[in-house]
This record gives sequence, structure tokens and C-alpha cells, in this order.
Amino acid sequence: MTDKKATLSIEGRADAVELPILTGTLGPDVIDVASLTGNGVFTFDPGFTSTASCESKITFIDGNEGVLLHRGYPINDLAENTTYLETCYLLLNGELPDGTQKADFENLISSHTMVNRSIEQFLSGFSYDAHPMSIMCGVVAAMSSFYHDSLDIANPQHRKITAHRLIAKMPTLAAMCYKHYIGQPYMYPKNNMSYAENFLHMMFGTPCEEPNVNPVLAKAMDKLFILHADHEQNASTSTVRLAGSSGANPFSCIAAGIAALWGPSHGGANQAVLEMLNEIGDEKNIDTFVKRAKDKNDPFRLMGFGHRVYKNFDPRAKVMKEACDEVLAELGMENDPLLKIAKRLEQIALEDDYFVSKKLYPNVDFYSGIIMKAIGIPTEMFTVIFATGRTVGWIAHWDEMISNSYKIGRPRQLYTGPSERAVTPIGDR
Ligand code: CMC
Repeated sequence: MTDKKATLSIEGRADAVELPILTGTLGPDVIDVASLTGNGVFTFDPGFTSTASCESKITFIDGNEGVLLHRGYPINDLAENTTYLETCYLLLNGELPDGTQKADFENLISSHTMVNRSIEQFLSGFSYDAHPMSIMCGVVAAMSSFYHDSLDIANPQHRKITAHRLIAKMPTLAAMCYKHYIGQPYMYPKNNMSYAENFLHMMFGTPCEEPNVNPVLAKAMDKLFILHADHEQNASTSTVRLAGSSGANPFSCIAAGIAALWGPSHGGANQAVLEMLNEIGDEKNIDTFVKRAKDKNDPFRLMGFGHRVYKNFDPRAKVMKEACDEVLAELGMENDPLLKIAKRLEQIALEDDYFVSKKLYPNVDFYSGIIMKAIGIPTEMFTVIFATGRTVGWIAHWDEMISNSYKIGRPRQLYTGPSERAVTPIGDR
């Protein structure tokens, strides 16, 4: 809180309303409009483009400068110098772990990687060709049926063990969705492997063979998880907070976050990028698609370009592009036709006046889709992997909200429907 105040004068009213101005550590000042309701007016901000929905200490974004900090650390620094589990520890606890804390946390997470056998049976009940995001929504919500002993959200220990369970089990569930789809046996987690190695092992290993995970791909996967770990009050995180504000249990809150992430404007964009590249099909068709993206009367958009907050560049995309180049070189896939279309599209969009003037840069989903395709992950699984990495962010925000004083989220509206009227009897309508 500062001494600064904003004054709102409303035409036709004698008294102006004084509104406190709040100042954070970084970022623009925020006008506290909570008292407005007592003055008979609301604010109107569909899409929340100018609204801070909460106070948070976890992540800071400056979209104009392309800055993303987790607990103060720049995302590129974290991606270069920490593992995903270190970043998880940071997001949950506020500080990076020392050597002992890191080892303890890794042991703790690996002790929760298995899922109850009944979850396996529940998952097996889905149609083999169900979209894995629909399976994840259902299975994660269903996990609340297994942990009655630790669902007291007012108990910090219960919240902690739930956070650990979710982080540990998401890769297991994600890989099970894939195995279900291709009809192979579910792979049990290998707790002597790193988080990312274990995930790739459960995805691509079979019980008939010894584990064999390419370390370059495991490193890229770990980076991909770090780059998706949290992103402030985006649609899915806000959904988790809103669901949690009613006191709902954390598994159902994360399931709500998974549902919100699925949309193509959010996490579903990484799948949409690959679908778009397939639709373009050949470098000679790129111009047609770029023209369509620029046509106001055509709903087509270049997937993987643009961002609500980043109007300079997406700092995650920079790191992801480097990881992408490493993966393609490792797999000798520099000349893959689809990836060639992607590179050419990126180049055109970075030079074309429409994209430059509207500040539409390639976002994290553009490169992550390419990396995952190169690793051999099917497109339907892309958003599931985003959800796996993002789980720590969702749960860190949920925990932050529950640990502080909070109110049920209950936005108001500008009503534009009919005024009060009487029902006409059915015979007279
Ligand atoms: N292709 C063509 N034109 C675009 C695109 C695009 N990808 N993105 C925005 N525009 C245009 C849009 O038509 C509008 O033009 P005008 O001002 O002439 O009406 C202008 O740019 C602003 O667009 P907007 O929809 O008002 O911007 P927004 O901040 O509401 O939307 C976005 C952000 C990410 C939803 C949008 O850029 C988009 O749909 N991108 C493609 C989907 C995508 O890649 N999403 C992943 C986002 S990153 C991962 C995550 O954090 O979830």
C-alpha cells in the first residue's frame, strides 16, 4: 500500500470516490477497486486485460520487456542451471534447495510415483482413442477418491503431501494415457531415474526391454517441464484459484485447470501448431496460410504465434528454440519436411509487417511442439505434457491462496438482458 490514491469522479454524482493504490515489488501499480461495490458501481474488464485478480509472490512477468521470473530468478537462468525438480522446490517453497534439500525432495517425489491399481482400472475404461486430455481431467479428479486421509485443505501438511503426490503422479498418468492409446502395458516408474528420464522411460519403454533413455532427449524434456512450470495468473491457473476459492479439494481444482488448459488458445496450441504444419503440408503453401492469417474475415490464426502478455518476445520461446536445435541435431532431423516448414514460417512471421507491427512472435508452444514431434511424442499428448509441467505452478498458486486469507471468487457482470417482465400464460404466447 502507498499513500497514493486514485480519484474516480462519476458524472452526475457529487462526491468523487477515492481508491487506494497498491504497489508490488515489480510491475505497475494497482488501483484497489474493492470499495466500488459500496458505491453502486462495478468495474468492467472482460478477459481481465487490466485486472489483477490476486496478490502473489510466485511469478513475475513483464510482457513488454520479455521478462519471466520465478521467485525472482529469470526463466533462462533456471532452465540452464537447475533441474525441473529444483524449480518445483523453488515454486513451492520460495527458495532453491541446497544439496541435501534437493536429494531429500527427489527421494520424496520418487516415493509417490506409483498410482493405485484402481486408477489403472479406471483409466482402462476409457475408449482407446479418447483424447488423453479428457482422460487426464477424469483421472486427476478421481484421485480425490483415494486420499480421504489428507484432504483437509486447512492443514498445511495435507496440502504439502497433495502437492508432492500430484507432481509425482502426473508423469505416470500421462504415460499411462499414451500406453492405453497404443495398447501397450503400462510401465511402472523407475525411481532411480530423473523426473524427465523416468517420464520418457514410461512413455517409450516396454517391459520386454531394458530401460534406454537418450540423455540429450531427457535433458530437453526436463527443460520443457521447467519452461512450462508456471506462468502467473493465466487462464488455467486462474481457474484453479477460482475452483479452490470455494474450498474444493485440490485434485478437482487441478482437474479444472487441466480442462482450461486444453483449449487451443492456451495449452492446446502446441497440438494445434503441429496440426497446422501438417495442414500446410509443403513450403510452397506457406504464403497462402500467411495470407489467411492476415485476413480479418478469415478466423484462421498462425498457431504458436502471439501472446496475451508478451508483446516483445516470449522468453521461454528463446530457451525452447535452443533446446529444439539440440534435439534436432541429436536425432539428425534438421531436414525433416515438417520442421522445415516450421523454420520457414518462423522466418516469414518474424519479417512480415503484419506480425511485426502486431508484436506476434513465436511463443513457447511453437518450439515445444516441434521438440515433442522430434522426440516421437504424438500430437494428442502435447497438451498433457504441458499439464504435467504446469501442475507444480497450479498447486503452488492454490497453496498460496489457501495459506492466506481469501474470499470465494465471485465476479459480477454488466447485465444487458430484458428488464423484469411477467410470464404470459402458455395459451397467450
Ligand atoms: N495469427 C494471426 N493474427 C493474430 C494471431 C495469430 N496467431 N494472434 C493475434 N493475432 C491478431 C488478431 O487478429 C488481432 O488483430 P486485430 O488487432 O487486427 O484485430 C491482434 O493480433 C490481437 O489479437 P488478440 O486476439 O486481441 O490478442 P490476445 O492477447 O487476446 O490473444 C492469443 C492472444 C495467444 C490468444 C493469440 O495471439 C492467439 O490466438 N495465438 C494463437 C494461439 C497460440 O499460439 N496460443 C498459445 C499462447 S502461449 C501458451 C500459453 O501461455 O498458453
